[in-house]
Amino acid sequence: MARQQLLHLRLFLLSSPKPVLLNPLPSLTSSSSSRNASSNPISRNRVWTLTTPRRADSTVTSLAEEILSSSTNDLSPDLASVLESDSARSIVHPSINGFPFLELLSLLKRRPLLALQVFDWRRNLRDSTPLIAEEYASAIALAGRAQNLSLAVKLFNESKPTANKPILYNALMTAFMYNGEVNRCISLFHELKKETKYGPDTVSYNILLSLYGYHILVDQMESVLRDMDSSGIPRSVVTYKILMCGYLRSRRWKQMERIFGSFKEPDMSTRLLMLRGYAIAGKLEKMERMYELVKGEVHAQEMSLICAMIRAYSKVRCESSLRKIEELVKLIREEEYFPHLHIVLIMVYAKEGLIDEMERLIFDANKRNIVISSHRVIRTILSVYYKCGDVERLGSFINQAENAGWSLSKDLYRCKMILFSRLGRLTEMCCEVDKMDSYWPVRDRYTLKILYKGFSDAGRMWEMNMVIGLMFKYGFRIPQDAVVG
Ligand SMILES: *[C@@H]1O[C@H](CO)[C@@H](O)[C@H](O)[C@H]1NC(C)=O
Ligand SMILES: *[C@@H]1O[C@H](CO)[C@@H](O)[C@H](O)[C@H]1NC(C)=O
Ligand SMILES: *[C@@H]1O[C@H](CO)[C@@H](O)[C@H](O)[C@H]1NC(C)=O
Repeated sequence: MARQQLLHLRLFLLSSPKPVLLNPLPSLTSSSSSRNASSNPISRNRVWTLTTPRRADSTVTSLAEEILSSSTNDLSPDLASVLESDSARSIVHPSINGFPFLELLSLLKRRPLLALQVFDWRRNLRDSTPLIAEEYASAIALAGRAQNLSLAVKLFNESKPTANKPILYNALMTAFMYNGEVNRCISLFHELKKETKYGPDTVSYNILLSLYGYHILVDQMESVLRDMDSSGIPRSVVTYKILMCGYLRSRRWKQMERIFGSFKEPDMSTRLLMLRGYAIAGKLEKMERMYELVKGEVHAQEMSLICAMIRAYSKVRCESSLRKIEELVKLIREEEYFPHLHIVLIMVYAKEGLIDEMERLIFDANKRNIVISSHRVIRTILSVYYKCGDVERLGSFINQAENAGWSLSKDLYRCKMILFSRLGRLTEMCCEVDKMDSYWPVRDRYTLKILYKGFSDAGRMWEMNMVIGLMFKYGFRIPQDAVVG
C-alpha cells in the first residue's frame, strides 16, 4: 500500500506516464476548423477519436446495455444470444440517422475487449454490407485501447484493400501514440505521406503535433506545424490547443500566451488550459483573473486545476496566499483528494511555522496512507521542531514516521539529539545513537560531532573525550575546538 502511494506521488510529481493520462490533452477528434469549438469540450475519453458519435437512438442504447450486462451478470443471456437478436441484426445497416453500429461501438468503448468481440461478430456476419473505413477505424482504436497493437496492425492491413482512407492511418497512429510507440507512429505518418491518392489530413498532423508536444520536443513540433502550413493543410481549433499543450509541457509561457491570444473567443477548455499555464508558471495575477472567468467550470470538474493553483500560491510566502490556499482546499471533494496536495499543504504550514496545523496534516497523512518520502519535506518539517525545541512533539512525529514506513533519515534522530542536548538530557541523547545504530550500523562524523558538542557544552569532559576517541577510531576529523588532553 505504502509503495503504491509513493509511486502515485512520484508519478504525480514528475508527469503523467502516458499521453492518455495527460490532463490537458485535447481530443483529436474534430478535423475541421469550421466545427463549433464550444461544442467540443475536451473530452474525458481522449482515446476515442475519429468518429463523431451522434446521440445514440434507443435501440442502440438498449442493445449496448444488454451486451454490457451479458458479460457481468450470470442471469443475463450470453453475448452470442444477444447478438442473434433482431435488434442486433438491424443496426449493422446504415440508417437515416447515420451508422448505428458505430454508435454501438462507441457506447462499448470502455470495455474494448467486449467491443472487439462485437466487431468480430459484425465482420463475420454473412450477407451484410461490407465494413466501411469508419468501422475499421473504430476497431483499430479499440485495439489500441486494449493495448493489442498487433491486432490494430492486423485490422489496418485487412482494411487497406477495401477501405483506404487517411482515417485508418489516423486510427493506427493514435493507437501507437497512446501505447507509447513513438517511432512507429512517426513512421506511419511518413508512410501516409507517400500515399498517392491522399495524404495526411488535419487530424494526422494533430496527432503528430501532440506526440511531439507531449514529449517536450518543441522544435520538432514547430517543424511539423510549418510542414502542415506549407502543405496547405488547414489548422483546426484542436491544432491550436495541441500547440498550447505542447508549450505548456515545455514551460514556454510566452508562446503559449501568444497562441491563446490568437483565439478570437477562446472556449472553456482553452481558458482552462491557459489557467493551468498561469498556475504552473506562477503568474498569480493573470491566474486570478482567468480563474474569475472560469470559476464555475473549475469547481464543477477541474479539481486538478485547484491543486495547480494551490501549488502556485504555496510558492509565495504571504498572509494572503495562505488564506487563499485554505479557501481553495475547502473546494476539494474527499474522493478527489491527491496525496501530493497533502504534502504541499504540509510544506505550506511548515514554512509558516504553524506547528499545530502542520501536525494535524501529518497525522491525517498517516491515516490516509500517504508516504512522506522527500528529504526536502522531512527537513522542512524538522526545521519547525528545531525552532520550537519541543522534543516530545518531535519524538511523536518520528514514531509516526517509523510506524508508517516513511523513509527515515538520520536527520530525524540528529535533530532529536540536538534538542535533547539543548535541554541537557544527555542520557536520552545517547539513546538516540543506539537507535540510529540499529538502522545505520556505520557511525558518521556528524552524529558524533553532535554528541561531542552535547557533552562539551555540558562540561562532561570524560564522555567528551570518549567521543573524540571514537572519532579517532573511525578516522574522522576531530572538531577544531576539541581540547585533546
Ligand atoms: C456554438 O455552439 C453554442 C452552443 O452549443 C452556441 O451557443 C454558439 O452560438 C455556437 N457557435 C457557432 C459559431 O456556431
Ligand atoms: C491480440 O488480439 C489477437 C486477436 O484477437 C489475439 O489472438 C491476441 O492474443 C491478442 N494479444 C494480446 C497480447 O492480447
Ligand atoms: C501488415 O502489412 C505490412 C506490410 O504491408 C507487413 O509488414 C506486416 O507484417 C503486416 N502485419 C500484420 C500483423 O499482418
